[in-house]
Amino acid sequence: MTGRAEDVCATSSVIVTCGTGGVGKTSCAAALGLLAARQGRRAVVLTIDPARRLADAIGLGDAVANEPVRVPCDAPGELWVAMLDVQATFDGLVASTAASPDQARRVLDNPFYRGLSQSLSGTRDYMAAERLHSLWNDARFDLVVVDTPPTRSALDFLESPERLARFLQHPVVRLLVAQGRGGLRIAGAAMQPVVKAIGRVIGNDALSGAVSFLQSFDGMETEFRRRALAVAELLRGDGTAFVVVASPSADAVAEADWFVSELRRMNIALRLVVENRVPPEFGGRVVDVFPDLVIEREAATGVLEGFRNRTLAAHPGVGFARATESASDIHDLAGVSRLADEIGNG
Ligand SMILES: Nc1ncnc2c1ncn2[C@@H]1O[C@H](COP(=O)(O)OP(=O)(O)OP(=O)(O)O)[C@@H](O)[C@H]1O
Ligand SMILES: [Mg+2]
Repeated sequence: MTGRAEDVCATSSVIVTCGTGGVGKTSCAAALGLLAARQGRRAVVLTIDPARRLADAIGLGDAVANEPVRVPCDAPGELWVAMLDVQATFDGLVASTAASPDQARRVLDNPFYRGLSQSLSGTRDYMAAERLHSLWNDARFDLVVVDTPPTRSALDFLESPERLARFLQHPVVRLLVAQGRGGLRIAGAAMQPVVKAIGRVIGNDALSGAVSFLQSFDGMETEFRRRALAVAELLRGDGTAFVVVASPSADAVAEADWFVSELRRMNIALRLVVENRVPPEFGGRVVDVFPDLVIEREAATGVLEGFRNRTLAAHPGVGFARATESASDIHDLAGVSRLADEIGNG
């Protein structure tokens, strides 16, 4: 396994792109999907960013939604795109883990569930992980490329399955679920003061909503936990490659440094860095007429060199690819295709 973009696309079953705002994560995610399609693979690019940039980058307008749509492209493989819909994913998860349609309905109709599935950022993270896992499991695709939002918390979704699994193992949660199975047991009775204490903190109404929700959940928590652990394993596995996208300004590189060290902290190896939006190299008369272009290029090269050295120290096996700032924005497949050419050239 090397860090060359071609190899990353050929050998991974999941690629996660991350980086700070505006560096080109979404464009690069699409370009990596296209590189894989050129290799004959069937790639789906999943954006977990609520912004609609992926649709714009590929020139698909409003057509991108939770269900993958195929992008017509001239490649032996396939390129698909999808956008995370938290509610649809959560509803689908409930429907597929419930013991009966009746149970699914009880959970889906519970007001606490509606609130939970719409409000918590932790829910969004877990549903991103769940959606990734279901596309990875989907026989239509060989590779899922994940495009993350431009925030430092973008990587929280990596840890959300473990968090959920821990939550479902918590004694209070287990007690509440067990209550739905026929009253308190001895161990349960011992927990009553704890439940009352929680009620005082979050309010008794909220608590009874949570209790009836967890009770309607009876049995499903085992499957939720099993799936959460399976996603955690997928994200940590050899088939998952992490890509940091950086652009050559002091601010963007400082943020890229943060992602590099965050991955290191999580004990996740970084496979590839894409240095994007690098000022192009000019020669001949252009240099005489526009000396600033040379200065800009040199400054960018200097910033990137320091970044490379720090990144190599933290992740010795990492590869680097470079793409220049093109004259126009990337808003159609032709633009994505040019970016793929550059990234693919190493
Ligand atoms: N190599 C490039 N040359 C020229 N423009 C580029 C290049 N890469 C990206 N862009 C442009 O930069 C802008 C940001 O790109 P993109 O949306 O891919 O970045 P992002 O990191 O996903 O942004 P966000 O942080 O908003 O999610 C877009 O207008 C895109 O067209
Ligand atoms: Mg983006």
